[in-house]
Amino acid sequence: MPPRFSTAEKTVPIYVVTTKSLPQALEQLEIAARNWVDAGGFAAKLGQVALIPAPDGSILAVLAGWGDRTARDQGWFHFAGIADKLPEGDYRIESGLGKDELEEAALAWLLGGYRFDKYKEQPEQHARLVCPQGLDAARIELKAEATFLTRDLINTPASDMGPEALEAAFMALAKRHKAKASAIIGADLLKENLPLIHTVGRAAEQPPRLLDMIWGDESAPKLTLVGKGVCFDTGGLNIKPGASMGIMKKDMGGAANVLGLAHMIMSLGLRVRLRVLVPAVENAISASAFRPGDILRSRKGLTIENNNTDAEGRLVLADALAMADEESPDLLISMATLTGAARVALGADLPPFYTDDGALAHRISRAARAVADPLWRMPFWDGYERQIEPGIADLDNAPKGGMAGSITAALFLRRFVENTTQFVHFDIYGWVPESRPARPKGGEAQGGRALLAVIEELYT
Ligand code: BES
Ligand code: MN
Ligand code: ZN
Repeated sequence: MPPRFSTAEKTVPIYVVTTKSLPQALEQLEIAARNWVDAGGFAAKLGQVALIPAPDGSILAVLAGWGDRTARDQGWFHFAGIADKLPEGDYRIESGLGKDELEEAALAWLLGGYRFDKYKEQPEQHARLVCPQGLDAARIELKAEATFLTRDLINTPASDMGPEALEAAFMALAKRHKAKASAIIGADLLKENLPLIHTVGRAAEQPPRLLDMIWGDESAPKLTLVGKGVCFDTGGLNIKPGASMGIMKKDMGGAANVLGLAHMIMSLGLRVRLRVLVPAVENAISASAFRPGDILRSRKGLTIENNNTDAEGRLVLADALAMADEESPDLLISMATLTGAARVALGADLPPFYTDDGALAHRISRAARAVADPLWRMPFWDGYERQIEPGIADLDNAPKGGMAGSITAALFLRRFVENTTQFVHFDIYGWVPESRPARPKGGEAQGGRALLAVIEELYT
């Protein structure tokens, strides 16, 4: 179900109360209600909720604790924690929040209402919110919808989200927005000179493919999104241990994220010529699997010593990026669940991004903060270039020792981007390990809302 605000006429008011405004709020209540709130231990702590009963036993109003928050600087999406504590029903935010906070609260509410219930018989209900006045309800719903799309794609297990199903989802989105879309599948990848995508995906039952979508006015600025679509990453012959393989259905998180972003761009009708490229493969094991030590030739001509079949993401991206770069887009963005090292450096919630363009980096960081979509710049550190240059080929996909693993992976990708002036790469995690307000455990959208803000800034 797409995330929607309530349109109910009858709603329960929520009064947002800080520790400071608590005495004042209590004064407005009748004595019985005040005693009830007191007796329940309500102290307006962040996330605390007090339900005030009407004489007939229904809920008359809600007091929602906001702690000593005065601005958004203490964390993000706390309002979703409040929504989670409310019984099913229709609510409105009556007072206590400024406009920016209201917008964040409204989005948080919708994001927190996500349930991956495709495989459940009894879907759970969530409290509904009427969109606060003065906000663009459709735009907030669109952001939530894009996030839900990304989450659904990631959460769907590889048994139902292999390269074929990912292609179907890709084509469905293209159709919805009347974009042109095509796929190069299996042996055709060799004919079309996309050898790395073929190499990584050839051992799987569902043949590897490159998905390509083009939308918008040809004369508008060219924006190309490339997303890693490894539908399952066993590690290949360098097989992953069980614990690391457990959530590798999420290894198409880059693809899921660029599709969410593309959905927002196309829905809003932004003035860009959008292209989306997704190499969709499964990194599987069979007699035809590529091997450690193989020397691989890329689309671009650079040769690669494959020192680890588990460093497959940069291989499929290399060909997709080279293809994207051939038409020198104005802005080229790649998103990929590329390295475990990115998570070691910054954790699950804070994806690093890489670009040589300082002004662009600044825009991204600022947008990330403004729209509560955390991102952190890391460097394309030239000094580590030698780590990706092995003995007998041009490049090494898995430098020994693994130091600065997210940086060396980013440097590897940069070798395939030559003509594009603005290139940004995001090494995302695409997953929430433990549920938090607005961020249920499972697949997650990262970076898309920040990028939408940047793209709007650049091209409108
Ligand atoms: N998909 C993984 C990266 C990954 C692992 C992301 C766990 C998030 C969580 C990627 O294909 C991979 O296996 N990378 C290797 C590269 C190494 C072999 C050079 C890694 O990070 O260990
Ligand atoms: Mn891998
Ligand atoms: Zn992978």
